[in-house]
Amino acid sequence: MINIGSYEERVKNFDWSIAEKELDYTQGDVINIGWYCSDRICQQGKGDKLALIWENAMGVEKRYTFDEVRRASNTIGAHLREIGVEAEDRVCLFMDKIPELYLGFVGILKTGAIAQPLFSAFGDESLHVRLDNAKTKVIMTQRKHVGKVRKILEKMPYLEHIIIVDHDGKKPLKERESVFSLNDREWIDDFDIHPTKAESPSVLHYTSGTTGQPKGVKHVHYSLISQYLTTKWVLDLQEDDIYWCTADPGWVTGTSYGIIGPWSLGITQCVLDKGFSAENWYSFIEKNRVSMWYSAPTAIRSLMKAGDEVIKKYDMSCLRHMASVGEPLNSEAVIWAEKVFNMPFYDTYWQTETGSMMICNYPGMKVKPGSMGKPFPGITGTVVDIETFEEINEPGKVGLIAFKPDWPAMMRTYWDNEETYQSKFVKGWYLPGDRSSIDKEGYFWFTGRDDDVINTGGHLVSPFEVESALLEHEAVAESAVVSKPDDVNMEVVKAFITLKPGFEANADLELKIMNFIRKKLSPLAMPQDVEYVEKLPKTRSGKIMRRLLKAQEWGEEIGDTSTLEDD
Ligand code: WTA
Repeated sequence: MINIGSYEERVKNFDWSIAEKELDYTQGDVINIGWYCSDRICQQGKGDKLALIWENAMGVEKRYTFDEVRRASNTIGAHLREIGVEAEDRVCLFMDKIPELYLGFVGILKTGAIAQPLFSAFGDESLHVRLDNAKTKVIMTQRKHVGKVRKILEKMPYLEHIIIVDHDGKKPLKERESVFSLNDREWIDDFDIHPTKAESPSVLHYTSGTTGQPKGVKHVHYSLISQYLTTKWVLDLQEDDIYWCTADPGWVTGTSYGIIGPWSLGITQCVLDKGFSAENWYSFIEKNRVSMWYSAPTAIRSLMKAGDEVIKKYDMSCLRHMASVGEPLNSEAVIWAEKVFNMPFYDTYWQTETGSMMICNYPGMKVKPGSMGKPFPGITGTVVDIETFEEINEPGKVGLIAFKPDWPAMMRTYWDNEETYQSKFVKGWYLPGDRSSIDKEGYFWFTGRDDDVINTGGHLVSPFEVESALLEHEAVAESAVVSKPDDVNMEVVKAFITLKPGFEANADLELKIMNFIRKKLSPLAMPQDVEYVEKLPKTRSGKIMRRLLKAQEWGEEIGDTSTLEDD
């Protein structure tokens, strides 16, 4: 492992210029993530090194060297330019974890356009709100997902092109659709990469908040500086590593650390486009000799549940380092990992908005199971009082996590929503909306979110989005959506519903309502439990008090109910 000195030494001597120097970047220079992830690695003589090892559910495997990533992304970039894509246009990637997703991401960035990756599991309405907010010009998708785009096409006059990357030429194309297949093209060697600068927009990721529609988090090419260095120090990637980030690039982890981090370091990474099972995952690690593994607590808890016997069937000796992100990593999971893999999962805390890791554990630091670790060097992080926003200096006292917003990968705004962006800053701090305490040694202990957003299996769900979908059903008068505890996903979505007169609360109606909202929401946001109630608790001003329902689900103290409306 890299020896970069103690945590204290690193913090003391830290400057982001460490990363700038390693990347040969000087302030004011052109900086293009697409170039850094492919061309630069080839210029360093590593063109023949494997960049991507890919496998799908049918066992089909594909491999790409860095030179192939360079030429394939050039080819995609050239095609986008040919059809009229210009710098800062939004190009959506709406695909499973197929190679074109990774190559397309690099290609889009090379043109200076903004990559907008969205989960292929999204239903047409989830897709529509995000494309509509970004006024997306082009969408790259697969045959199997194009139906969802067709459904909402009428509502999207700004969407000029639907590129299908795997069309077999059998079914006829519809309006605005075209076929682009890397297999049929001659790959381009020279491409005129757009001279993006530090502040040029790069990626637009959508994330859910408590109220309103999902927000488009705008990142810039300069984010590379943080993503590169955190990948190097926290994920500890080394020249010969085989790296596996299990996240989908529809989620920020899948781009910051599933494309940009590893490829800007010239590291070989694997992608498994196949459903989860303990056997699938362990055999993938064994087969590809994965040495560094970045995953998420829900997956880790599912592996724990599958038991220790199944691990013994596989040779896991290739693993040398493991990390986790997305939700609280309970101490049991860390201790379990030490038992079965002989090493802990190193927890990392960050957000779509922060673009790169903020609070983490990494080699060279003592891991305290259950703690998120300490702020990455260069990050000023603390907790502030929930009411006064003054810094808390008392170890163990819970407050709001707060960061000085001065690291390279910090979001630059929410797309077309500057007001909400500004609301995240108080007294010079950026408030990510989470609560934590800090112990005597400076370790952060996560206690929960400061809002009603539900984190189910690492996926953020806005209660507002689910409630809105429910309210569209003819039988639903009111609804309140909260989290309830779950062994594996940590929390799941629960909906309370009051019905309109004339409708009877029964299982048949529940099924109808669920089928109705399934089309509107992503499968990840679906309620796991529905409860019909006569009445929802409300404040005197008529706001539904989700807090009470949530406390009830979690068996917690109800707290202050002085604002509750009388019976
Ligand atoms: C939560 C994820 C506890 C937190 C990259 C945060 C965590 C939100 C951790 C961001 C962790 C993330 N421990 N909670 N290690 N990591 N979270 O934007 O509430 O999808 O604000 O990005 O997940 O989720 P997002």
